[in-house]
Amino acid sequence: MEMQLYQTIKSQIKQIMRIDLDHYKDEQMRRRLDSWLVRSGAPTWADYFARVRSDSKEMLRFRDYLTINVTALFRDPERWTALREQVMPELLRAALQLRPSSPGLRIWSAGCSIGAEPYTIVMLLDEIAPQRHHTILATDLDKGAISRAMSGGGFNNDEIANLSPAQRSKYLDAGGPPYRVKQSVLKKIDFKEHNLLSDPFPTDMDLIICRNVVIYFTTETKDMLYRRFSQALRPGGYLFVGATEILPRPQELGFAGAGISFYKANK
Ligand SMILES: C[S@@+](CC[C@H](N)C(=O)[O-])C[C@H]1O[C@@H](n2cnc3c(N)ncnc32)[C@H](O)[C@@H]1O
Repeated sequence: MEMQLYQTIKSQIKQIMRIDLDHYKDEQMRRRLDSWLVRSGAPTWADYFARVRSDSKEMLRFRDYLTINVTALFRDPERWTALREQVMPELLRAALQLRPSSPGLRIWSAGCSIGAEPYTIVMLLDEIAPQRHHTILATDLDKGAISRAMSGGGFNNDEIANLSPAQRSKYLDAGGPPYRVKQSVLKKIDFKEHNLLSDPFPTDMDLIICRNVVIYFTTETKDMLYRRFSQALRPGGYLFVGATEILPRPQELGFAGAGISFYKANK
C-alpha cells in the first residue's frame, strides 16, 4: 500500500473507530491492512469503509483484527517512560509512607494476554526499585493466554524490539525466536484466570494496568469497569490505560486525569 493511501486510511480509521494507527509499526500495519481488504472482498477502501459505517459487527471484527493480536514488551514505549519517570516516583514514595514495613508496590495487570505487560513491569521495577518486594497480579480471561504467560510468553522479533541488548540478555532466555522471559522474571508474578465482567476485583492496589482490553466493550460496560477499577485502587492509586483509550468524564467514574494514559483514583 502506498504511503499516501495509508495516511488516508489511518485518518479514516481514527475518525470512525478512534484507533490511532500512528502507534503501530507502519510496515507491518500496511501489510495487515492490504490482506484484510483482500479477505473482505470489497473492491476498494471506500467500499469497505461504507460497509464498516453501516455494519457495527463488521466494525467490531475490523477493530478486533487491528488490535487483538498486538502485544509487545514495553508496548508504546513512551507511555512506559512516563510511568517510570512521572508516576512511579510518586507511587514508591507513597508506599513507603503508607506501608513502611512492606513498601513494595501492589500492581494488577488486568487482561494481560500472554504476559508482556507484567513482564515489562517486573523489568521496570527491577531497574528502579529492586530492593523492595512487589506484589504483581496478572490476569486474563483466556486460559490459553494465561498458560503461555506462565511459561514465559514466546515472543517474535517485533514483540521484543523495544528491549535494549542489555535487557535482552538480562531478562530473556538464550535462543529464540520465540523468545521467553527467564524464570527470575516469572517467579515475581502471580498469574490467574479472571473474568473482568464477572469475577471479584482485588483491593488496595497502587497501580492497575488495563490496556487495550475494554476497547471492545460498550460504553456502559466500560464505565462500570472503570468505577470498579477506581474502587480496587487505594485513594491516589493510578490506572494505566492503552495509548488510544480516553475516559471522557473521569471525575464521574472516580478518577482525575493525570496525563496521557494515566488516571488517578480520587474517591
Ligand atoms: C488486545 S489484548 C491486550 C493485551 C495487553 N493488555 C496489551 O495491551 O498488550 C486483550 C486481552 O483482553 C482479554 N480479555 C477480553 N475480555 C476479557 C474479560 N472479560 N476479562 C478479562 N480479560 C479479557 C483477552 O483475552 C486478551 O488477552
